[in-house]
Amino acid sequence: MFILAHQFAGVVELVDTLDLGSSAARCESSSLSARTTIFQYYFMSEENFIANNFTNLPDTSSYTWSSPSNIALIKYWGKNKNQTPKNTSISFTLSNSRTITTLELNKKSKADNNILFDVYYKDKKIDEFKPKIDLFFRNILKYCSYLKGYSFKINTANTFPHSSGIASSASGMSALALCIMSLEKDLNSTMKEEYFYKKASFLSRIGSGSACRSILGGINLWGKHADVEQSTDLYSIKYPYEIFKDFLDYNDTILLVDTEAKQVSSSDGHTLMKNHIYADKRYKIAQKNVIRLKSILKNGNLHSFTSLIEEEAMMLHALMMTSNPSYVLIKPNTLKIINSIKSYRETTKIPICFTLDAGANVHVLYPKEGEKKVELFIESELKEYCKNYSFISDKVGKGAVQL
Ligand code: DP6
Repeated sequence: MFILAHQFAGVVELVDTLDLGSSAARCESSSLSARTTIFQYYFMSEENFIANNFTNLPDTSSYTWSSPSNIALIKYWGKNKNQTPKNTSISFTLSNSRTITTLELNKKSKADNNILFDVYYKDKKIDEFKPKIDLFFRNILKYCSYLKGYSFKINTANTFPHSSGIASSASGMSALALCIMSLEKDLNSTMKEEYFYKKASFLSRIGSGSACRSILGGINLWGKHADVEQSTDLYSIKYPYEIFKDFLDYNDTILLVDTEAKQVSSSDGHTLMKNHIYADKRYKIAQKNVIRLKSILKNGNLHSFTSLIEEEAMMLHALMMTSNPSYVLIKPNTLKIINSIKSYRETTKIPICFTLDAGANVHVLYPKEGEKKVELFIESELKEYCKNYSFISDKVGKGAVQL
């Protein structure tokens, strides 16, 4: 079955392969150069990701991956039943905000459909994440039937504070998916590196949509777009066009305005897009914004970047505020920060801007050039609006690594 899947995948070898696992920092370069393009698997369909009938299951095994969070520039907001997106999204992979997950496996006496696992956060057993992980396992069994042969212990930890209000589902689900792929790689030693990462992204997506954009470094794109040849709803791809150098190490300082759990989960937010009066318009605008961003990423017009990124952030929250029922996730201090960033940009002409997730925290995006000035501004004027004066200094990173 698995070999067939590869035949259908239409593998085109372009340059030399990297040995899986030996390349800790992957796909760092921005352009689609021959150096970064290792294998091109065109036409990957769901069937290509079905890996069954392995007989050589090891009795025990353990894998550890560190996977980053990501921040969307063009937002994913609205999805189909199978967790495919209603529009294309594009994100920066982050560097410091990560989840580190170890997956330990023990072979069951007999493989069955019962998913047996325990979850630990920093070695302490917790049940809070279990329902989401249980659903994830059940949803990926079709593609990873070898999982039926094991019981699992999942030990996970975030590098960012546990109650920081930073969504850990992108980093958490991608770290777990990568551990599962390491097992599959052990069962199938001929697996190519590109297949490994595509399936890791595919599985991550099933866990949490935005998680599929956390596997590779730099800039990632998820969701079919008529003008982006290799784009697909099934998994995320490395952004395939030219990128102006400033975007390769862009800063993202995350201001922690509110560290409480959100009143509305992202999943519920996506659901409210179903009957949303602006849904169709939003999906069209998002596809157009992908094209706008493509030209900005190429020409490096940072002031156009600030306009587009802030439009996207405000549109996301405008959609929440106009859904039925409606909800407001930004807080008074979010607005103070937004206004302060706008007037600082106006006065200094430094191309600093903000973006938002589905919450009150503010991501402050700015280039390396002039970063010292912006850091002073954050210290002296923005920090006071954060809970306990806390923020996380992050930037565009290199993607997930196996430990
Ligand atoms: C606002 O990926 O958390 O951060 O697929 O239901 O798990 P699920 O949702 P999730 O949604 C993320 C929404 C967002 C925008 C984005 O990251 O693109």
